Amino acid sequence: LANGLGLTPQMGWNSWNHFQCNIDEKVIKETADALVSTGLAKLGYIYVNIDDCWAEIHRDDNGELLPRKSTFPSGIKGVADYVHSKGLKLGIYSDSGYYTCSRTMPGSLGHEERDAKTFASWGVDYLKYDNCYNDGTKPTVRYPVMTRALMKAGRPIFFSLCEWGDLHPALWGSKVGNSWRTTNDIADNWTSMISRIDANDVYADYARPGGWNDPDMLEVGNGGMTNDEYVAHFSLWAISKAPLILGCDVRNMTKETFKIISNKEVIAVNQDRLGVQGKKVRMEGDIENWAGPLSGYRFALVLLNLGPVRRSITSLWEDIGIPENSVVVARDVWEHKTLKTRFVGNLTATVPSHGCKMFVLKPIA
Ligand code: DGJ
Repeated sequence: LANGLGLTPQMGWNSWNHFQCNIDEKVIKETADALVSTGLAKLGYIYVNIDDCWAEIHRDDNGELLPRKSTFPSGIKGVADYVHSKGLKLGIYSDSGYYTCSRTMPGSLGHEERDAKTFASWGVDYLKYDNCYNDGTKPTVRYPVMTRALMKAGRPIFFSLCEWGDLHPALWGSKVGNSWRTTNDIADNWTSMISRIDANDVYADYARPGGWNDPDMLEVGNGGMTNDEYVAHFSLWAISKAPLILGCDVRNMTKETFKIISNKEVIAVNQDRLGVQGKKVRMEGDIENWAGPLSGYRFALVLLNLGPVRRSITSLWEDIGIPENSVVVARDVWEHKTLKTRFVGNLTATVPSHGCKMFVLKPIA
């Protein structure tokens, strides 16, 4: 969407994956504090996004959305002011139907202009727009109404489409939003995570600065996967130019979780200014190669092992798009080591079960 936002995939945090409806302004403010105190904000995680369940079930007499009194006594404006005072940005959530998915608050269908203005007046910087309890019209009818309302609201608001990939939003999303979900909800396990990124990969060619494919938010740190699996999760999201929206409780993270989500070199792949989504370039049984170009004539590479045992995995220059006889320097971005070997034609590494190795490759001759 040509609103100047999302020139690289959005980074931040969202309440849903960890908290679902158990949110209040304390959690949101403490999360903002934690993003700053841990240094995650400096690494680019700037959006603090409130998901479903923040409003009263009824609008006020003027038809305005009402923040839930019992959980958001300061209102969304109060929370936005707090989040802004920390140098961060605030995201909110609504729905393109009559109710949101939790059925605990109204949707914005028929109230798009009013709600967009309300959000802007509260200082909201980001809107995630869900698809529950709609009127049966196509998302291509309902979502652009909110796009136009946001464009007129008088404040730049990142627009995150959440119609779950139902109508192949990659095909029309770039004119409507800054990112679009390509799948239904992720769950905190390996099979779900892999199936989301696979479904997302189909649309790789549609991603570009200003509009990104969204395979759903991160589960890193929520406890359902092993460390190697979370490393693979984060690597695949990074190389796929997916939004890096944290979904764990950043107030109480393990060192292992922090180490994954704070990896500057992996984040740099995701945020690379070239903005080209990496793709699955080879699949043979349990092993896969994912690769994509980066700025400065470099390439990102993920060697992925879907199987139950350690495997040696080779990637070929021809799959990556590097000339066959090129001499390449490889940087292991999880080990933070530049390998001494110069590679010609291919690179082979040992990869743990349900895990990956990730490299940045630089042809030097
Ligand atoms: C469905 C969305 O896909 C989820 O990410 C989350 O926003 C829930 N709805 C909230 O009800």
